[in-house]
Amino acid sequence: MTSYPDSAFLAACRGEPHAHTPVWFMRQAGRSLPEYRKVRGPGSILEAIANPELSAEITLQPVRRYGTDAAILYSDIVVPAQAIGFGVEVQPGLGPVVAQPFASESDLQRLRPLDPEADTPHVLETVRLLVEELTVPLIGFAGAPFTVASYLIEGAPSRTYTRTKALMLGQPALWDALMSRLVDLAVVSLRSQINAGAAAIQLFDSWAGALSPKDYQTHVLPYSKRVFAALEDLDVPTIHFGVGTGEILSLMAQAGSTVMGVDWRVPLGEARRRLGPESILQGNLDPAVCFAPPAVVEQAVTEVLEQNDHHPGHIFNLGHGVMPDTDPAVLERVIDQVHRFPLNPPAVS
Ligand code: CP3
Repeated sequence: MTSYPDSAFLAACRGEPHAHTPVWFMRQAGRSLPEYRKVRGPGSILEAIANPELSAEITLQPVRRYGTDAAILYSDIVVPAQAIGFGVEVQPGLGPVVAQPFASESDLQRLRPLDPEADTPHVLETVRLLVEELTVPLIGFAGAPFTVASYLIEGAPSRTYTRTKALMLGQPALWDALMSRLVDLAVVSLRSQINAGAAAIQLFDSWAGALSPKDYQTHVLPYSKRVFAALEDLDVPTIHFGVGTGEILSLMAQAGSTVMGVDWRVPLGEARRRLGPESILQGNLDPAVCFAPPAVVEQAVTEVLEQNDHHPGHIFNLGHGVMPDTDPAVLERVIDQVHRFPLNPPAVS
């Protein structure tokens, strides 16, 4: 496996000392960049993901432009489900859409095990191409069982997750069978990305914040725990992230990732009070702040860094993904400011 001895990102994931605060941005690949729009071409994002040269290029673009400390694979959380033939499309501007949503026991047959070399060879080829080119670690990823389940059950992006919650609460045996299959899908996909050369992984439970602590703990946490436990032998840092998760942050941390992603609603100091002083955090500039005047952005970046209080276990990121119409010049200034920030506290004389 390729190692990156000077990687600030990997050092921060382990809470070890390093020269500068590492930065990458969720949804940095394939969003606001003009060079992305130039190469993307028509068709669905799933078609673009099926083309390894194109996907590798899109992954590299933000690393080249911004000098991020890590790359995130250009792919999508619905790729494994689509690859096993569940029937998922991704509609531009909307997100994943499922023609025949998951509704009953017979739908379990549509979730056969993933064979990465046969079902997602293009993803593995993209990872291999990238590992040859990159001088910073590549982050692979998967959707967490709950967030993927929500797309398969709702059939389209949802605000209320009513069908998902109805199944979760009303049909516990079917929920367990579905979630267990989605655990396997995530584990097999993540292991294949790591074996192909990804140096870290992130589990996106983007919509877990829709759950009460009790429901999260009972119906979701056990499955996310299984995902992280199944990766333990591989010795790569793992990141666990969701949006609106303040109230369940300490429960999510029990799933066992190396790093906890924090959205912008919880200041990093408060997150460490909830998770413990040694916790390793990723985040958490509000992506909407990027639309405010430069001085406001600068102040908000400073506040995130001050909240971290020189802790070596911090990876700077947005509190959620880059919004599509973000001006890349703003992110250039953000990264520059983070990299210039003195990570080590001044020596006491
Ligand atoms: O972070 C990156 O830059 C890498 C690529 C990436 C994409 N999706 C590309 C993408 C990653 C890590 C994802 C993960 C993903 N996909 C998540 C978890 C992250 C999060 O945002 O919380 C979720 C919930 C999805 C499902 C999904 N796919 C959504 C909600 C959308 C957005 C629809 C839209 O257009 O606003 C997609 C489509 C998608 N995935 C796009 C990209 C660049 C945009 C569509 C396109 O370019 O055709």
